[in-house]
Amino acid sequence: MATPHIAAQPGDFAPAVLMPGDPKRAERMAQAILDQPKLVTEIRGIPGFTGAYAGDGPHRGKPLSIMASGMGMPSITIYATELFRFFDVERIIRVGTAGGVSDQVDVGDVLIAVGAHTTSSMNELRLPGTHFSAVADLRMAAAALAAADQADQPVFSGCVISSDHFYLKIPDQLEALRRHGVLGVEMEAAGLYGVAAEHGRGALAVLTVSDHLTKTGSDMTAEQRETVFQGALGLAVAAAFA
Ligand code: HPA
Repeated sequence: MATPHIAAQPGDFAPAVLMPGDPKRAERMAQAILDQPKLVTEIRGIPGFTGAYAGDGPHRGKPLSIMASGMGMPSITIYATELFRFFDVERIIRVGTAGGVSDQVDVGDVLIAVGAHTTSSMNELRLPGTHFSAVADLRMAAAALAAADQADQPVFSGCVISSDHFYLKIPDQLEALRRHGVLGVEMEAAGLYGVAAEHGRGALAVLTVSDHLTKTGSDMTAEQRETVFQGALGLAVAAAFA
């Protein structure tokens, strides 16, 4: 049973799906951490893979899926809705990047987004007259934090802001976000958390800080980005099997 945006059959997805934004990264992740990944969909060049988790540890051999989300809340909410509603997916873990907002975070740090503020109307439309709280699944967030502790890997947990804009930066808004402890800016988490709430399923965003909005000159090279990303991936896997 294909859906408008996913050409897979029932049972093609594992209970947990890791979601990077970039289709090529989804492919590289599948090759790196899945045993015999099967391509189950690629409508619009958005691939989804399912295989057995090939990493070491207690979860080796368990089914796991990896699918790209594309960029922005409209894109991730389409895929997340179809995965939860038609493919019995229970957990989605966004594995992506964020721009650093807080002075405390640096490029290369990993953020566990326990909550996501947003400037988008996507969640406001869900509950008219109510300010929706876009929050991660606590069990999944706790599993990611525990995995970080176990690996002695520093992480930040807190709120991010999910923006509809990549290039529009409003100075006063940025300053207010910083004063309220916002760790970073990205473009998907709040939308994903809204869809998870609607379907009674779990979601989490594990984000690597790829650039910083005010600490200039500290952007990562593509190679550094890939290495740091591996650390974040380990935490996302822990959340997938929480
Ligand atoms: N804005 C939105 N998303 C991002 C950014 C940013 O500055 N950096 C990485 N993802």
